[in-house]
Amino acid sequence: MLENKNIILGVCGSIAAYKSAFLVRLLVKAGANVKVILTPDGANFITPLTLATLSKNPVYTQYFEEETGVWSNHVELGLWADLIIIAPISANTLAKLATGICDNLLTAVYLSAKCPVYVAPAMDLDMWKHETTQNNIERISSFGNTVIAPANGELASGLWGEGRMAEPEEIVSFLSNSIKKSLPLFGKKVLVTAGPTYEAIDPVRFIGNHSSGKMGFALADEMAKLGAEVTLIAGPTAQKADQILKRIDVVSAQEMFDACTVAFAETDITVMCAAVADYRPKQVATQKIKKQDSGLFLELEKTTDILAFLGAAKKPHQVLVGFALETNDEENYAKGKLEKKNLDLVVLNSLNDKGAGFKSDTNKITIFNKALERTIFEMKSKTAVAKDICTAILKIAK
Ligand code: CTP
Repeated sequence: MLENKNIILGVCGSIAAYKSAFLVRLLVKAGANVKVILTPDGANFITPLTLATLSKNPVYTQYFEEETGVWSNHVELGLWADLIIIAPISANTLAKLATGICDNLLTAVYLSAKCPVYVAPAMDLDMWKHETTQNNIERISSFGNTVIAPANGELASGLWGEGRMAEPEEIVSFLSNSIKKSLPLFGKKVLVTAGPTYEAIDPVRFIGNHSSGKMGFALADEMAKLGAEVTLIAGPTAQKADQILKRIDVVSAQEMFDACTVAFAETDITVMCAAVADYRPKQVATQKIKKQDSGLFLELEKTTDILAFLGAAKKPHQVLVGFALETNDEENYAKGKLEKKNLDLVVLNSLNDKGAGFKSDTNKITIFNKALERTIFEMKSKTAVAKDICTAILKIAK
């Protein structure tokens, strides 16, 4: 969740500032770009050198660095940030945030920023309990800022009680969870199928197709990045899905059907990207079929059309998306599949478009919605195509 996020860490004057060093390390380890702003009093508790080394960025302490003549632009810093976490925040800075006092770089950046702001207070028990502090907490929360509550424990004063800053690990998981909750597909269960199916002829041979699974895996990854709980049902493929926790590997159309019908009942959004075999051998030989002088006839029977089966069972809140891979009369076939299989969207690939279809890293798609409105996309990487498909799904997801 924190990968590539631009994070400003504000550090105020509190003994808990020593924990900020651990916090920077954890944020950087999670892949975030971290810039630290120390308040003048914060610099009494932890050195800029420590935080600069750990964050791999210069530490900002004031508007104007006298030695270097560098001016730290608070507006630029505020706009750079995807999120601000002030940990520890002192009672003093809390009061400034509550009233708009802006007498140092951190408070100026706070007022300039448009991103979510989190604060992790650290102070002595009586300061924390004071009505003024509690009013300030309420006030900054009412502005949309999030308070990461202090824990109970031994305080620097020797008192025992509430006021200890949350531990760096807790802060990092709090931030990750709240980013996750803000994602557009958070709470949604998504089913994606990918890759080919193999239909056995005998113990060594099968009927298959050229699907690589790249498009389906890119889609599953993108859905997961948008916060969805993804189940990926994959036919035989060498693809890896880093973001997907639940992957079910299948071989045949029947196995894919069985896995899909179980998962579908719980699913909000289903995207059938797999190239499922339409036919399979009626008999699977138990021994390897030996070469004959004459030709070989295989009798094939139809597999179940999984997408059509799910379309017939679909509940009103469920979104169902299918693919249509065509070589001729593409738009009519795609629209026909949308209607016949009761889909919400159909994604058309034409094998006549160079760089579209199986195996390549790119794809060119056209999407039709239920009203048969058409959106044509440029040739793009499969990752970018996956983003376009997700955007179209987000427009109709309930
Ligand atoms: N599909 C499916 N089960 C099958 C065959 C296809 O779920 N047995 C799904 C695919 O995952 C895809 C969509 O149906 O989302 C369309 O697949 P495609 O092969 O393009 O079309 P078919 O409906 O099989 O028709 P045809 O092969 O005649 O074009």
